[in-house]
Amino acid sequence: MNWEKFLAPYAQAVEELKTKLNGMRIQFENESQHSPIESVIGRVKPIRSILEKAKMKNVPLNQVEEELQDIGGIRIVCHFVDDIYTVVNLICARHDFTVIEEKDYIQKNKESGYRSYHIIINYPVETIHGVKLVQVEIQIRTLAMNFWAVNEHSLNYKYKGAIPLEIKSKLKRAAEAAFKLDEEMSMIKNEILEAQQMFNRSEREEGLY
Ligand code: GTP
Ligand code: MG
Repeated sequence: MNWEKFLAPYAQAVEELKTKLNGMRIQFENESQHSPIESVIGRVKPIRSILEKAKMKNVPLNQVEEELQDIGGIRIVCHFVDDIYTVVNLICARHDFTVIEEKDYIQKNKESGYRSYHIIINYPVETIHGVKLVQVEIQIRTLAMNFWAVNEHSLNYKYKGAIPLEIKSKLKRAAEAAFKLDEEMSMIKNEILEAQQMFNRSEREEGLY
């Protein structure tokens, strides 16, 4: 397996998608007062993690391209839950890639308490041999959902996937608290947006921008 050659189109896709999605964020910032996108990050799954996941799922190496949908990964973080759906609609309306699957773990969270919106796309990468389609997983979540997921991920790593029951139930309560936080923030969204606008304006006036 030539990993460098195999992963190159994924790296290309992740870089292009980061640029494009950041472009959306900048356009929102220029044209409106609030961007539904807070930040965009991306990564190519490390070889070690690809091998571990393939082994765990009993996927032979010649099928990882089809079977592992998150070798290319993008994460979009938003302030508010309804921002997530704004971003989802924009992504689905684009013509530069194809959406092949959507999973709404916000309406129905996972057993762990995990919440996020996942979109799997087929992204066309132009290579010297022509177009190469690669799958990329886009995770869209609020700051609160991200806070929870990042912490839960660390605990999973620490306990090698077997988090003790007591901690698991505390994590579930934390997930409910994060959900509640999102709900409460949504209720004062307009207040917050107004405050952000005032803040941005005064920063501009002071020449800090
Ligand atoms: P995978 O085998 O992980 O691909 O599961 P799947 O094919 O059912 O996809 P799913 O949409 O459930 O999960 C894909 C990705 O979402 C994972 O690789 C994680 O990055 C993230 N994810 C899913 N569930 C959890 C969870 O309980 N906790 C955290 N922290 N992340 C999760
Ligand atoms: Mg998956």
